[in-house]
Amino acid sequence: MSFRIQPAAPARPNRCQLFGPGSNTRLFAKMAASAADVVNLDLEDSVAPSDKDSARANVIAAIGDIDWGRKCLSVRINGLDTPYWYRDVVEILEQAGPRLDQIMIPKVGCAADVYAVDALVSAVERARGREKPVSLEVIIESAAGIAHVEEIAAASPRLQAMSLGAADFAASMGMQTTGIGGTQENYYMIHEGQKYWPDPWHWAQTAIVAACRTHGILPVDGPFGDFSDDEGFIAQARRSATLGMVGKWAIHPKQIALANQVFTPSEEVVAEAREILAAMEEAKAKGEGATVYKGRLVDIASIKQAEVIVRQAEMIDG
Ligand code: COA
Ligand code: MG
Repeated sequence: MSFRIQPAAPARPNRCQLFGPGSNTRLFAKMAASAADVVNLDLEDSVAPSDKDSARANVIAAIGDIDWGRKCLSVRINGLDTPYWYRDVVEILEQAGPRLDQIMIPKVGCAADVYAVDALVSAVERARGREKPVSLEVIIESAAGIAHVEEIAAASPRLQAMSLGAADFAASMGMQTTGIGGTQENYYMIHEGQKYWPDPWHWAQTAIVAACRTHGILPVDGPFGDFSDDEGFIAQARRSATLGMVGKWAIHPKQIALANQVFTPSEEVVAEAREILAAMEEAKAKGEGATVYKGRLVDIASIKQAEVIVRQAEMIDG
């Protein structure tokens, strides 16, 4: 119990974040024309060390040159353990136009990582008189990141979103897998001779969701590497949505529609949520705090659950 009201996360759709390497300029216009809510131009791990400077220049040009529509436009900078990151921040904020919305910080391990980037961003913004403050998003993809997830979520008023990065996370944790997200063949239980496969990402996801919801940040599921496996992607995305995440990355355009579909509440689900709200209005009018809807209990908590769905649908429509 707390007397504090849980802060609302930013009211913008974040169902799909489409990534593309900053070194692959041919993709930029396609990314801008896609149905993703967020575009992440990458300077980090999809760019070879020899291409870091040219990728940064490409991204700076593209921010101004391309019509990004109403998308949230984000650049993933290099990690704080590299020699590249400060120039990513400084050159992008000094040279790219005002269209940039967000900077993504990878491999965040503690709140001070976010503080450091915030300090640099703040200084460049003031020096250049940038009027629109750039927001931040982070990737939790290390043992330290998940161990410090709550302090990271509280680290900066600029912070809007937090993603789970399954591949680096698995490596940092020493997990025995080369898969990027999804079902892991060796993570199974046996019941009466039958195998079934639980979700090894579940605990990290719920830790991220709890930290994000505590501090008004959007929790996002990261990449699903096997882009030929639509069913696997959908299953992973549905689990994430059920746990409270608002969206998922796409590392190939064919994943965009899948993510949008999973993270947009369906008409049936929204209609049912509205019916629950109506049933509770009726109950309230009769002085009752609980009632029966389609043979099951609904009570005052059900109002909040239904409102989550209705608000999400209205925000996406708007
Ligand atoms: N954004 C927009 N369009 C993309 C795209 C992306 N991320 N990836 C591929 N496309 C386009 C291709 O250009 C191609 O377009 P065309 O039909 O006009 O020729 C079409 O989608 C089909 O692409 P396909 O041939 O299946 O893939 P590819 O071999 O060209 O590229 C990847 C595959 C994985 C290398 C590429 O999708 C990619 O770079 N993904 C992003 C990687 C990334 O950013 N990683 C960092 C975050 S984990
Ligand atoms: Mg990573």
